[in-house]
Amino acid sequence: MEQNKRYCNKINTDSIWDEFNIKNVKLKNRIVRAATNEHLGTLDGVITDAYIDVYKNLADSGIGLIITSHMAIDKMQRADLTHICINDPENFEKLKLLTKEVHKTDSKIICQISYGGYRALKVAGKRAMTPSAMEETTEMTLGDIDDCINNYIKTIKLIKKAGFDGVELHLAHGYLLSEFLDSFYNKRDDLYGGTVENRYRIVHQILSGIHNLCFDSNFLIIAKIDSTSKSGDSLFLKDQIEVCKLLEKDGIDAIEVSGCDFRKYKQDTPYFLNNALMIKEMVSVPIILVGGFRNQAQMSDAISKGIDLISISRPFIAEKNFMEKLRNNQSSRCISCSKCFDIYKTQFKHCIFDKDIDLQLYENFHK
Ligand SMILES: Cc1cc2nc3c(=O)[nH]c(=O)nc-3n(C[C@H](O)[C@H](O)[C@H](O)COP(=O)(O)O)c2cc1C
Repeated sequence: MEQNKRYCNKINTDSIWDEFNIKNVKLKNRIVRAATNEHLGTLDGVITDAYIDVYKNLADSGIGLIITSHMAIDKMQRADLTHICINDPENFEKLKLLTKEVHKTDSKIICQISYGGYRALKVAGKRAMTPSAMEETTEMTLGDIDDCINNYIKTIKLIKKAGFDGVELHLAHGYLLSEFLDSFYNKRDDLYGGTVENRYRIVHQILSGIHNLCFDSNFLIIAKIDSTSKSGDSLFLKDQIEVCKLLEKDGIDAIEVSGCDFRKYKQDTPYFLNNALMIKEMVSVPIILVGGFRNQAQMSDAISKGIDLISISRPFIAEKNFMEKLRNNQSSRCISCSKCFDIYKTQFKHCIFDKDIDLQLYENFHK
Protein backbone atom coordinates (compact mmCIF):
# COMPACT_ATOMS: atom_id res chain seq x y z
CA MET A 1 0.00 0.00 0.00
CA GLU A 2 2.93 2.35 0.77
CA GLN A 3 4.29 2.10 -2.77
CA ASN A 4 0.81 2.81 -4.05
CA LYS A 5 0.30 5.93 -1.93
CA ARG A 6 3.65 7.21 -3.10
CA TYR A 7 2.47 6.94 -6.72
CA CYS A 8 -0.81 8.69 -6.02
CA ASN A 9 0.71 11.69 -4.28
CA LYS A 10 3.75 12.21 -6.44
CA ILE A 11 4.56 12.14 -10.14
CA ASN A 12 6.34 8.89 -10.95
CA THR A 13 9.33 9.67 -13.15
CA ASP A 14 10.03 6.08 -14.28
CA SER A 15 10.27 5.49 -18.01
CA ILE A 16 8.51 2.82 -20.07
CA TRP A 17 12.01 1.50 -20.82
CA ASP A 18 12.84 0.91 -17.15
CA GLU A 19 12.90 -2.58 -15.70
CA PHE A 20 10.04 -3.72 -13.49
CA ASN A 21 9.96 -6.64 -11.09
CA ILE A 22 6.89 -8.65 -10.21
CA LYS A 23 7.93 -11.05 -7.44
CA ASN A 24 11.19 -12.58 -8.71
CA VAL A 25 10.27 -12.10 -12.37
CA LYS A 26 12.27 -9.27 -13.91
CA LEU A 27 10.69 -7.51 -16.91
CA LYS A 28 13.21 -5.64 -19.02
CA ASN A 29 10.74 -2.82 -19.78
CA ARG A 30 7.15 -1.78 -19.02
CA ILE A 31 5.68 -2.90 -22.36
CA VAL A 32 3.24 -5.81 -22.37
CA ARG A 33 1.76 -7.43 -25.47
CA ALA A 34 -1.89 -7.84 -24.40
CA ALA A 35 -3.54 -11.22 -24.99
CA THR A 36 -4.58 -11.36 -28.64
CA ASN A 37 -6.30 -14.26 -30.34
CA GLU A 38 -4.55 -14.63 -33.70
CA HIS A 39 -6.90 -17.46 -34.79
CA LEU A 40 -3.83 -19.48 -35.66
CA GLY A 41 -4.95 -22.76 -34.15
CA THR A 42 -6.10 -25.55 -36.48
CA LEU A 43 -9.87 -26.12 -36.66
CA ASP A 44 -9.25 -28.63 -33.88
CA GLY A 45 -7.57 -26.14 -31.57
CA VAL A 46 -4.00 -27.34 -32.16
CA ILE A 47 -1.09 -24.88 -32.22
CA THR A 48 0.37 -24.23 -35.70
CA ASP A 49 3.94 -23.27 -36.70
CA ALA A 50 2.56 -19.88 -37.77
CA TYR A 51 1.36 -19.31 -34.20
CA ILE A 52 4.83 -19.97 -32.79
CA ASP A 53 6.35 -17.66 -35.42
CA VAL A 54 4.12 -14.79 -34.25
CA TYR A 55 5.52 -15.17 -30.72
CA LYS A 56 9.11 -15.50 -31.89
CA ASN A 57 8.71 -12.20 -33.74
CA LEU A 58 7.07 -10.49 -30.76
CA ALA A 59 9.93 -11.61 -28.50
CA ASP A 60 12.58 -10.56 -31.02
CA SER A 61 11.02 -7.09 -31.18
CA GLY A 62 11.97 -6.47 -27.52
CA ILE A 63 8.66 -6.60 -25.60
CA GLY A 64 9.10 -7.03 -21.83
CA LEU A 65 6.12 -9.31 -21.20
CA ILE A 66 4.08 -11.22 -23.77
CA ILE A 67 0.63 -12.54 -22.90
CA THR A 68 -0.54 -15.29 -25.26
CA SER A 69 -3.90 -15.44 -27.00
CA HIS A 70 -6.44 -16.81 -24.58
CA MET A 71 -6.38 -20.59 -24.64
CA ALA A 72 -9.39 -22.78 -23.91
CA ILE A 73 -9.37 -25.08 -20.91
CA ASP A 74 -12.31 -27.14 -22.14
CA LYS A 75 -12.47 -28.05 -25.81
CA MET A 76 -16.26 -27.98 -25.87
CA GLN A 77 -16.44 -24.60 -24.11
CA ARG A 78 -14.15 -22.71 -26.50
CA ALA A 79 -15.04 -19.52 -28.30
CA ASP A 80 -14.50 -20.71 -31.88
CA LEU A 81 -13.00 -23.63 -33.76
CA THR A 82 -9.52 -22.15 -34.14
CA HIS A 83 -9.39 -21.35 -30.42
CA ILE A 84 -6.36 -23.23 -29.12
CA CYS A 85 -7.21 -25.87 -26.56
CA ILE A 86 -4.41 -25.88 -24.01
CA ASN A 87 -5.19 -29.32 -22.59
CA ASP A 88 -5.05 -31.10 -25.93
CA PRO A 89 -2.16 -33.59 -25.49
CA GLU A 90 -0.99 -32.67 -29.01
CA ASN A 91 -0.25 -29.17 -27.77
CA PHE A 92 2.08 -29.91 -24.86
CA GLU A 93 5.32 -30.20 -26.85
CA LYS A 94 4.27 -27.16 -28.91
CA LEU A 95 3.72 -25.13 -25.74
CA LYS A 96 7.19 -26.12 -24.57
CA LEU A 97 8.63 -25.06 -27.93
CA LEU A 98 6.75 -21.75 -27.69
CA THR A 99 8.21 -20.86 -24.29
CA LYS A 100 11.66 -22.07 -25.33
CA GLU A 101 11.64 -19.84 -28.41
CA VAL A 102 10.53 -16.78 -26.43
CA HIS A 103 13.11 -17.46 -23.71
CA LYS A 104 15.90 -17.37 -26.29
CA THR A 105 15.39 -13.63 -25.83
CA ASP A 106 15.00 -11.97 -22.43
CA SER A 107 11.23 -11.49 -22.90
CA LYS A 108 8.86 -13.19 -20.50
CA ILE A 109 5.73 -15.09 -21.56
CA ILE A 110 2.47 -15.68 -19.71
CA CYS A 111 -0.38 -17.89 -20.87
CA GLN A 112 -3.93 -16.52 -20.76
CA ILE A 113 -6.69 -19.07 -20.13
CA SER A 114 -10.45 -18.97 -20.33
CA TYR A 115 -13.74 -20.81 -20.46
CA GLY A 116 -16.01 -19.45 -23.19
CA GLY A 117 -19.19 -18.82 -21.19
CA TYR A 118 -21.79 -17.30 -23.53
CA ARG A 119 -19.07 -16.99 -26.13
CA ALA A 120 -18.88 -20.80 -26.40
CA LEU A 121 -22.26 -20.81 -28.17
CA LYS A 122 -20.71 -21.17 -31.62
CA VAL A 123 -18.92 -24.38 -30.63
CA ALA A 124 -21.07 -25.86 -27.87
CA GLY A 125 -24.52 -24.67 -28.97
CA LYS A 126 -27.02 -25.14 -26.14
CA ARG A 127 -24.31 -26.85 -24.08
CA ALA A 128 -22.45 -23.54 -23.67
CA MET A 129 -22.23 -23.16 -19.90
CA THR A 130 -22.99 -19.84 -18.19
CA PRO A 131 -23.50 -18.88 -14.52
CA SER A 132 -27.23 -18.36 -15.17
CA ALA A 133 -29.17 -19.69 -18.12
CA MET A 134 -29.36 -17.22 -20.97
CA GLU A 135 -31.76 -17.68 -23.87
CA GLU A 136 -29.60 -20.32 -25.53
CA THR A 137 -27.21 -21.56 -22.85
CA THR A 138 -27.15 -23.99 -19.94
CA GLU A 139 -26.89 -22.83 -16.31
CA MET A 140 -23.96 -24.42 -14.50
CA THR A 141 -24.75 -26.86 -11.71
CA LEU A 142 -22.63 -26.94 -8.55
CA GLY A 143 -20.95 -30.03 -10.02
CA ASP A 144 -20.11 -28.10 -13.23
CA ILE A 145 -18.60 -25.32 -11.10
CA ASP A 146 -16.45 -27.84 -9.19
CA ASP A 147 -15.26 -29.40 -12.45
CA CYS A 148 -14.46 -25.97 -13.85
CA ILE A 149 -12.39 -25.02 -10.76
CA ASN A 150 -10.51 -28.33 -10.89
CA ASN A 151 -9.85 -27.89 -14.62
CA TYR A 152 -8.37 -24.44 -14.00
CA ILE A 153 -6.07 -25.81 -11.31
CA LYS A 154 -4.96 -28.80 -13.42
CA THR A 155 -4.32 -26.52 -16.39
CA ILE A 156 -2.20 -24.10 -14.40
CA LYS A 157 0.07 -26.97 -13.35
CA LEU A 158 0.47 -27.85 -17.01
CA ILE A 159 1.24 -24.23 -17.94
CA LYS A 160 4.01 -24.20 -15.36
CA LYS A 161 5.40 -27.47 -16.63
CA ALA A 162 5.46 -26.09 -20.18
CA GLY A 163 7.87 -23.35 -19.06
CA PHE A 164 5.65 -20.25 -18.94
CA ASP A 165 6.53 -17.40 -16.57
CA GLY A 166 2.97 -17.31 -15.35
CA VAL A 167 -0.71 -17.43 -16.11
CA GLU A 168 -3.35 -14.79 -16.69
CA LEU A 169 -6.92 -15.59 -15.67
CA HIS A 170 -9.27 -14.00 -18.20
CA LEU A 171 -11.88 -12.32 -15.99
CA ALA A 172 -12.98 -9.89 -18.71
CA HIS A 173 -14.77 -9.39 -22.05
CA GLY A 174 -17.82 -11.60 -21.47
CA TYR A 175 -16.04 -14.93 -20.96
CA LEU A 176 -17.22 -17.28 -18.21
CA LEU A 177 -15.44 -15.84 -15.15
CA SER A 178 -16.41 -12.27 -16.06
CA GLU A 179 -20.02 -13.44 -16.30
CA PHE A 180 -19.80 -14.76 -12.73
CA LEU A 181 -18.49 -11.39 -11.52
CA ASP A 182 -21.10 -9.25 -13.29
CA SER A 183 -24.63 -9.22 -11.84
CA PHE A 184 -25.89 -8.39 -15.34
CA TYR A 185 -25.15 -12.04 -16.27
CA ASN A 186 -25.06 -13.71 -12.87
CA LYS A 187 -28.58 -14.11 -11.43
CA ARG A 188 -27.79 -17.08 -9.21
CA ASP A 189 -29.29 -17.23 -5.73
CA ASP A 190 -26.82 -19.75 -4.28
CA LEU A 191 -23.28 -19.28 -2.91
CA TYR A 192 -22.06 -18.18 -6.35
CA GLY A 193 -24.50 -15.30 -6.90
CA GLY A 194 -25.78 -12.18 -5.15
CA THR A 195 -23.09 -10.31 -3.19
CA VAL A 196 -19.69 -9.37 -4.65
CA GLU A 197 -18.06 -12.04 -2.44
CA ASN A 198 -20.44 -14.69 -3.76
CA ARG A 199 -19.98 -13.72 -7.41
CA TYR A 200 -16.21 -13.76 -6.83
CA ARG A 201 -16.27 -17.14 -5.02
CA ILE A 202 -15.35 -19.24 -8.08
CA VAL A 203 -12.24 -17.08 -8.68
CA HIS A 204 -11.34 -17.37 -4.98
CA GLN A 205 -11.58 -21.15 -5.17
CA ILE A 206 -9.41 -21.28 -8.29
CA LEU A 207 -6.77 -19.04 -6.69
CA SER A 208 -6.78 -21.01 -3.42
CA GLY A 209 -6.29 -24.22 -5.41
CA ILE A 210 -3.41 -22.76 -7.41
CA HIS A 211 -1.63 -21.33 -4.40
CA ASN A 212 -1.94 -24.62 -2.51
CA LEU A 213 -0.43 -26.52 -5.39
CA CYS A 214 2.11 -24.34 -7.09
CA PHE A 215 3.09 -21.20 -5.24
CA ASP A 216 6.42 -20.09 -6.67
CA SER A 217 8.01 -16.65 -6.64
CA ASN A 218 9.19 -17.19 -10.23
CA PHE A 219 5.69 -17.93 -11.53
CA LEU A 220 3.19 -15.08 -11.88
CA ILE A 221 -0.55 -15.33 -11.41
CA ILE A 222 -2.29 -12.30 -12.83
CA ALA A 223 -5.87 -11.40 -13.73
CA LYS A 224 -7.45 -9.33 -16.50
CA ILE A 225 -10.61 -7.60 -15.35
CA ASP A 226 -13.32 -5.36 -16.78
CA SER A 227 -13.77 -1.88 -15.42
CA THR A 228 -17.01 -1.40 -17.37
CA SER A 229 -20.06 -3.64 -17.81
CA LYS A 230 -22.31 -4.26 -20.80
CA SER A 231 -25.18 -3.18 -18.54
CA GLY A 232 -23.71 0.35 -18.37
CA ASP A 233 -24.26 0.18 -14.60
CA SER A 234 -22.14 2.93 -13.02
CA LEU A 235 -21.91 0.93 -9.78
CA PHE A 236 -20.09 -1.86 -11.60
CA LEU A 237 -16.68 -0.21 -11.13
CA LYS A 238 -17.34 0.06 -7.38
CA ASP A 239 -17.97 -3.70 -7.28
CA GLN A 240 -14.90 -4.38 -9.39
CA ILE A 241 -12.76 -2.38 -6.96
CA GLU A 242 -14.01 -4.77 -4.26
CA VAL A 243 -13.10 -7.66 -6.57
CA CYS A 244 -9.58 -6.23 -6.92
CA LYS A 245 -9.24 -6.06 -3.14
CA LEU A 246 -10.30 -9.70 -2.94
CA LEU A 247 -7.84 -10.63 -5.69
CA GLU A 248 -5.10 -8.91 -3.72
CA LYS A 249 -6.11 -10.77 -0.57
CA ASP A 250 -5.93 -14.01 -2.56
CA GLY A 251 -2.35 -13.26 -3.58
CA ILE A 252 -2.75 -12.09 -7.17
CA ASP A 253 0.56 -10.71 -8.52
CA ALA A 254 -0.81 -8.02 -10.87
CA ILE A 255 -4.15 -6.85 -12.28
CA GLU A 256 -4.68 -5.87 -15.92
CA VAL A 257 -7.51 -3.34 -16.26
CA SER A 258 -9.70 -3.47 -19.38
CA GLY A 259 -13.42 -3.01 -20.07
CA CYS A 260 -16.18 -5.06 -21.66
CA ASP A 261 -16.54 -2.72 -24.58
CA PHE A 262 -13.07 -1.74 -25.83
CA ARG A 263 -14.20 -2.02 -29.48
CA LYS A 264 -16.67 0.85 -29.15
CA TYR A 265 -13.90 3.36 -28.35
CA LYS A 266 -12.69 4.76 -31.62
CA GLN A 267 -10.45 7.43 -30.11
CA ASP A 268 -6.80 6.53 -29.77
CA THR A 269 -6.35 7.37 -26.11
CA PRO A 270 -6.11 5.08 -23.07
CA TYR A 271 -9.82 5.30 -22.28
CA PHE A 272 -9.75 3.14 -19.12
CA LEU A 273 -6.99 5.22 -17.47
CA ASN A 274 -9.23 6.89 -14.88
CA ASN A 275 -10.85 3.58 -13.93
CA ALA A 276 -7.40 2.00 -13.57
CA LEU A 277 -6.18 4.87 -11.37
CA MET A 278 -9.22 4.47 -9.12
CA ILE A 279 -8.33 0.80 -8.73
CA LYS A 280 -4.65 1.66 -8.20
CA GLU A 281 -5.59 3.86 -5.26
CA MET A 282 -7.27 0.95 -3.51
CA VAL A 283 -4.79 -1.90 -3.97
CA SER A 284 -1.03 -2.25 -3.78
CA VAL A 285 -0.48 -4.89 -6.49
CA PRO A 286 0.99 -3.67 -9.81
CA ILE A 287 -1.60 -2.36 -12.26
CA ILE A 288 -1.35 -3.08 -15.98
CA LEU A 289 -3.52 -0.87 -18.19
CA VAL A 290 -4.76 -1.94 -21.63
CA GLY A 291 -6.71 -0.16 -24.35
CA GLY A 292 -5.95 2.73 -26.70
CA PHE A 293 -2.19 3.24 -26.26
CA ARG A 294 -0.74 4.33 -29.59
CA ASN A 295 2.38 6.36 -28.73
CA GLN A 296 5.08 6.87 -26.13
CA ALA A 297 3.70 10.16 -24.76
CA GLN A 298 0.44 8.46 -23.71
CA MET A 299 2.38 5.63 -22.10
CA SER A 300 4.74 7.94 -20.19
CA ASP A 301 1.75 9.96 -19.00
CA ALA A 302 0.03 6.83 -17.65
CA ILE A 303 3.25 5.70 -15.92
CA SER A 304 3.72 9.17 -14.40
CA LYS A 305 0.21 8.92 -12.92
CA GLY A 306 0.91 5.54 -11.29
CA ILE A 307 0.17 2.83 -13.87
CA ASP A 308 2.91 0.19 -13.65
CA LEU A 309 2.80 -1.57 -17.01
CA ILE A 310 1.43 -0.63 -20.44
CA SER A 311 -0.43 -3.33 -22.34
CA ILE A 312 -0.99 -3.14 -26.09
CA SER A 313 -2.79 -5.34 -28.63
CA ARG A 314 -3.89 -3.85 -31.97
CA PRO A 315 -0.74 -1.84 -32.76
CA PHE A 316 1.19 -5.14 -32.75
CA ILE A 317 -1.32 -6.49 -35.26
CA ALA A 318 -1.12 -3.37 -37.41
CA GLU A 319 2.67 -3.38 -37.70
CA LYS A 320 5.43 -5.84 -36.93
CA ASN A 321 7.88 -3.01 -36.19
CA PHE A 322 5.77 -1.27 -33.54
CA MET A 323 8.47 -1.60 -30.86
CA GLU A 324 10.99 0.04 -33.18
CA LYS A 325 8.53 2.85 -33.94
CA LEU A 326 7.97 3.33 -30.23
CA ARG A 327 11.72 3.60 -29.62
CA ASN A 328 11.86 6.24 -32.38
CA ASN A 329 8.97 8.10 -30.79
CA GLN A 330 6.60 7.41 -33.70
CA SER A 331 2.88 6.68 -33.30
CA SER A 332 1.20 3.47 -34.39
CA ARG A 333 -0.73 3.48 -37.66
CA CYS A 334 -3.55 1.58 -35.88
CA ILE A 335 -6.83 3.54 -36.05
CA SER A 336 -8.70 1.20 -33.65
CA CYS A 337 -11.18 0.19 -36.34
CA SER A 338 -11.11 -3.37 -34.89
CA LYS A 339 -11.58 -4.89 -38.32
CA CYS A 340 -8.62 -7.14 -37.40
CA PHE A 341 -11.10 -9.11 -35.31
CA ASP A 342 -12.90 -10.42 -38.36
CA ILE A 343 -10.10 -10.17 -40.88
CA TYR A 344 -8.22 -12.70 -38.75
CA LYS A 345 -11.17 -15.03 -38.81
CA THR A 346 -11.96 -14.81 -42.52
CA GLN A 347 -8.57 -14.30 -44.13
CA PHE A 348 -5.97 -15.16 -41.50
CA LYS A 349 -4.36 -11.83 -42.28
CA HIS A 350 -3.94 -8.87 -40.03
CA CYS A 351 -4.86 -5.30 -40.67
CA ILE A 352 -6.83 -3.18 -43.16
CA PHE A 353 -3.52 -1.50 -43.99
CA ASP A 354 -2.01 -4.77 -45.22
CA LYS A 355 -1.69 -4.58 -48.98
CA ASP A 356 -3.19 -8.00 -49.69
CA ILE A 357 -6.40 -7.59 -47.68
CA ASP A 358 -9.62 -8.15 -49.59
CA LEU A 359 -11.84 -5.51 -48.04
CA GLN A 360 -14.76 -6.63 -50.20
CA LEU A 361 -14.64 -10.01 -48.45
CA TYR A 362 -14.76 -8.17 -45.14
CA GLU A 363 -17.75 -6.02 -46.18
CA ASN A 364 -19.61 -9.12 -47.45
CA PHE A 365 -18.98 -10.87 -44.13
CA HIS A 366 -20.77 -7.99 -42.42
CA LYS A 367 -23.79 -7.73 -44.74
C1 LIG B 1 -7.95 -9.53 -32.81
C2 LIG B 1 -8.04 -9.37 -31.32
C3 LIG B 1 -8.00 -10.48 -30.51
C4 LIG B 1 -8.06 -10.35 -29.11
N1 LIG B 1 -7.95 -11.45 -28.32
C5 LIG B 1 -7.93 -11.31 -26.96
C6 LIG B 1 -7.70 -12.42 -26.12
O1 LIG B 1 -7.44 -13.55 -26.57
N2 LIG B 1 -7.76 -12.22 -24.78
C7 LIG B 1 -7.98 -10.96 -24.23
O2 LIG B 1 -7.99 -10.81 -23.01
N3 LIG B 1 -8.17 -9.90 -25.02
C8 LIG B 1 -8.13 -10.03 -26.36
N4 LIG B 1 -8.25 -8.93 -27.14
C9 LIG B 1 -8.37 -7.61 -26.50
C10 LIG B 1 -6.98 -6.96 -26.31
O3 LIG B 1 -6.18 -7.70 -25.42
C11 LIG B 1 -7.10 -5.53 -25.76
O4 LIG B 1 -7.72 -5.60 -24.49
C12 LIG B 1 -7.92 -4.61 -26.67
O5 LIG B 1 -7.63 -4.85 -28.04
C13 LIG B 1 -7.64 -3.14 -26.38
O6 LIG B 1 -6.26 -2.84 -26.48
P1 LIG B 1 -5.62 -2.10 -27.78
O7 LIG B 1 -6.30 -0.77 -27.91
O8 LIG B 1 -4.15 -2.00 -27.46
O9 LIG B 1 -5.91 -2.97 -28.96
C14 LIG B 1 -8.18 -9.05 -28.53
C15 LIG B 1 -8.23 -7.93 -29.36
C16 LIG B 1 -8.14 -8.07 -30.73
C17 LIG B 1 -8.15 -6.83 -31.59
